[in-house]
Amino acid sequence: MEQQKKKVILSGIQPTGIFTLGNYIGAVKNWATMQDEFHCAYMLADLHAITVRQDPKAFREQTLSCCALLLACGLDPEKSVVFIQSQVPAHAELSWILSCYTQFGELSRMTQFKDKSARHADNVNAGLFTYPSLMAADILLYQADLVPVGADQKQHLELTRDIANRFNGIYGNVFKVPDGYIPKVGARIMSLADPTKKMSKSDDNPNACISILDKPEVIVKKFKRAVTDSDMEVCYREGKDGINNLMTIYSAVTGLTLDQITADFAGRGYGDFKTAVGEAVAEELRPIREAYDRFMSDRASLEACYHQGAERAARLAERTMQKVKKKVGFIL
Ligand code: TRP
Repeated sequence: MEQQKKKVILSGIQPTGIFTLGNYIGAVKNWATMQDEFHCAYMLADLHAITVRQDPKAFREQTLSCCALLLACGLDPEKSVVFIQSQVPAHAELSWILSCYTQFGELSRMTQFKDKSARHADNVNAGLFTYPSLMAADILLYQADLVPVGADQKQHLELTRDIANRFNGIYGNVFKVPDGYIPKVGARIMSLADPTKKMSKSDDNPNACISILDKPEVIVKKFKRAVTDSDMEVCYREGKDGINNLMTIYSAVTGLTLDQITADFAGRGYGDFKTAVGEAVAEELRPIREAYDRFMSDRASLEACYHQGAERAARLAERTMQKVKKKVGFIL
């Protein structure tokens, strides 16, 4: 019997701040569980992050912290390739080449570009515009089969597929055309203060967002203050955004289904439910915070880890780079 080859997964996250509970449940927790089933490469997208101005000192610290966080969340450098994007030059290199196979019109239609250029009107730089070509390079370099992304990145992934197909159409099969991957669990986590908005680390209201390094007492307190509705029933229904969000979170950390949660909290008030969610999240995050502290207090191992990750990533990326350069007609 022919053995099925493990599929390749690539995903990335920008190191622009300590991850939120939303980043964890929606992305990184799933990344960790996929490590046995797939060949995984996970990247801190620092090249993407400089499309918005960063303070160099804070940025460097944040990138290190995020690296420690990925490990603390269970990414295992023995199983997966965990690396920092800027440490693998092939990303910038392929990005330039792919930008010559990406149309101005396509990039102009990206909704994230339109949103971000409206929000940062004083810095609508070319990198913000060509951001999707860089993301295409990230993915295509590793010949990824599957790319776990949130809803906000789907359009970029579609463009990646278009670029790959276009390039393959001209030069033959160079790139694997990747599919999106929607994990079985892990949904969009919303703000605790306004459950119609996505949970965001840049929210002005400190109660809106749980940082994965928040202390247990703080977590419990924030959940107690979470905005819900004036009804009393713990059930998942349209119009109950706050409760729906808390149920999604509770389900993600306990593994209980929405129906089980409704049954467990039948006849109990929101107060009880909010406390239970807060305590469950605090317990889930406690070992992560402890592991993070260990990784951060041993900078030498952290450094060894991302250097080794970058070396492995560079080796994989170089295979694709050689093919691309040859096809395009560069002298090797
Ligand atoms: N653009 C993604 C984000 O902001 C991060 C990212 C960069 C990424 N390169 C990627 C995600 C490649 C998946 C695959 O969320």
